[in-house]
Amino acid sequence: MQLTITNRLPKPLSNACYLYFLFDDAKFKGQARKFDAVQDGLLKRLYNSGDFTGKSGQALTLHGLDGTTDTRHILIGLGSREQADKNTWHTACNTAAKQLIDTPAAVAISDCLTSVVINSLAAPAMAEHLVREIGAASYVFEWHTSDKSSNKNKLLQIILQCSKELLEKTDQVAHEALSTANGMAVARTLGNLAPNICNPEFLANQAIDMASQFDNFSTKILDEAQMQELGMGAMLSVCAGSDQPGRMIVMNYQGKKRSGKPVVLIGKGVTFDSGGISIKSSSGMDEMKFDMCGAASVFGVMYALGELQPAINVIGIVAAAENMPDGRASRPGDVITTMSGKTVEILNTDAEGRLVLCDAISYAKRFEPSVVIDIATLTGAAVVALGNHMSAVFGNHQATIDALVESGEVTGDRTWPMPMSDQYQKQLDSNFADMANIGGSSAGAITAACFLARFAEDLHWAHLDIAGVAWLSGDKKGATGRPVPLLLNYLTRQINS
Ligand code: BES
Ligand code: MN
Ligand code: ZN
Repeated sequence: MQLTITNRLPKPLSNACYLYFLFDDAKFKGQARKFDAVQDGLLKRLYNSGDFTGKSGQALTLHGLDGTTDTRHILIGLGSREQADKNTWHTACNTAAKQLIDTPAAVAISDCLTSVVINSLAAPAMAEHLVREIGAASYVFEWHTSDKSSNKNKLLQIILQCSKELLEKTDQVAHEALSTANGMAVARTLGNLAPNICNPEFLANQAIDMASQFDNFSTKILDEAQMQELGMGAMLSVCAGSDQPGRMIVMNYQGKKRSGKPVVLIGKGVTFDSGGISIKSSSGMDEMKFDMCGAASVFGVMYALGELQPAINVIGIVAAAENMPDGRASRPGDVITTMSGKTVEILNTDAEGRLVLCDAISYAKRFEPSVVIDIATLTGAAVVALGNHMSAVFGNHQATIDALVESGEVTGDRTWPMPMSDQYQKQLDSNFADMANIGGSSAGAITAACFLARFAEDLHWAHLDIAGVAWLSGDKKGATGRPVPLLLNYLTRQINS
């Protein structure tokens, strides 16, 4: 997709779609005003008839107005001019994007950055959301379907008018948003891929492909023998029951010449979580192909960094394994030794995410990171606590937690801070090893985080439990690409601070 931020809108283009964001007071500015005049007061008539009233969430697509069939005009409601805020804008962008993608238009055009004023939302922030929503709505997953032509969307270009003063900043932010959408698409595709295709080795090959595609990008893949060498007994205990060998994937984006400490992102890459010997019930078990969505978000972020080439150093680590039951699988009761030397009694083989992550966290220490953030579909308890709207954030470094929460608010990819006091640590006590891998039936998301904290130790560390937000179920079943927007916003703020 091509993105043009310009001071002047082009002359009418063929195969275009014009977007007009309108309040409910029927006062029209900019392009909408011109459009209303050219069409003999059509907008006013629509308001009067009640066909379109500018209500928030409302949209109307008008076809065939200019004596042509290949120009469309979409009206999107913003509700009350006085009450409009960030959420109003997010809703409107989402509505506009869906409506736009339903048309066969090749170009989307809007002057909303100059004609719409929303309290506390400057042009760059408005553009960021609109571009990201259009990018996300354009996503199609057609890897596994035989007819790849039918559901291709046709949109090739977005043109947004912007004032001269804000042009440079808006252009930069809008392009970041486009790369964010591209990164989300990468994450969604990896998440949506069938688990018989997307296994640990497949993920490793994705990393190798990305390294060849981008500047300042390298990758290193550890196989099981190398993990053995490093003493990654926790990671290997999860790999043990699968015929698909595990991989520890290290992607290195070196955007800065000077030796700035890297941010390390660690993704849970369980390409299928059957539960292992503590096997899950069969209903909805297919959705456990999404148990690598943390890893997918790391791939998405690394992809966007490759495109954007920002001045920051980021290392992405993906702990890729398949959790299966078989004769070599770990048993409940097994005691394993992690890379850190700490021993773990595996009381439930379905609590495998923390086992692959704890060795990845220990491994991350060699990069002397400024911050380590792990991203994982770690617990059903996080879904119980926060539902599908927010991820849960934990950590041992308040500034990092605050920054992640802030990035969640800015992007709409929200996260909520959870407690992690020592009282919860006791739930992990084991009679036979340094700790157990589960903490009983209460506070499951918290005890999972407490487990990881024992390995993070004095690192600046945060943990995002994305079990509720990484994918949708039901007829919209599919990966969401979250929390790629949150993470990229966090990283770009690191550069500016
Ligand atoms: N991948 C699951 C967590 C999960 C479950 C995410 C359902 C989204 C929806 C994880 O590996 C798991 O099985 N966790 C267990 C932990 C328990 C055994 C302590 C869980 O949450 O039930
Ligand atoms: Mn599990
Ligand atoms: Zn899992």
